[in-house]
Amino acid sequence: MTDWLTGQVSGAEVVVSERRIGDLAGVFADAEAFARLPADRVVYRTECILGVPPGTVGGLFWGTTFIEPGTVGDEYFMTKGHIHAKPDRMEAYFTFCGAGLLLLMDAERHCRAERMTPGSTHLIPAFTAHRTVNIGEDVFSFGACWPSDAGHAYQAIADAGFAARVVRSQGAPRVVPNESTVCRH
Ligand code: PA5
Ligand code: MN
Repeated sequence: MTDWLTGQVSGAEVVVSERRIGDLAGVFADAEAFARLPADRVVYRTECILGVPPGTVGGLFWGTTFIEPGTVGDEYFMTKGHIHAKPDRMEAYFTFCGAGLLLLMDAERHCRAERMTPGSTHLIPAFTAHRTVNIGEDVFSFGACWPSDAGHAYQAIADAGFAARVVRSQGAPRVVPNESTVCRH
């Protein structure tokens, strides 16, 4: 069961996973600011219900991600980001609390960002890398529903990153190019 106000998932079968600063080496641009943060500081947590074994065709997985407020240098706390191991698999996101951005990047590395606000719903197309960013002062939480055979592939993003980054500039979020590739936002 999921609490629609907070996103908290309950039940005996909930799988909780945390990503701390120490798990996110290489994700943020400012290595010096990253090194100043405690390795055990939690950046985000997921609470998921995986009702069938991963890889099952035709099932659905369900979970909430909670991203803490904060920055590494001027870059907002965010998820590692991934594409699905079966890249044609789509996904739905829906926002519970806080303020976020969904960063989407297609196979040509074109990026766009969707604002995530409580109640907003988002469809992640096939063949599209995705990452979420907390651009607010409070915890940002959103739900996700994805096919149980989609899988998560992190290596491509770990190697090449996204073509855009989300930074705080004069107190407001700004999507800026990360490389020389095109960025639409
Ligand atoms: O399945 C999803 O896309 C989400 O549940 C993400 O896994 C979650 O937001 C954490 O992000 P990441 O898997 O990129 O660390
Ligand atoms: Mn996904």
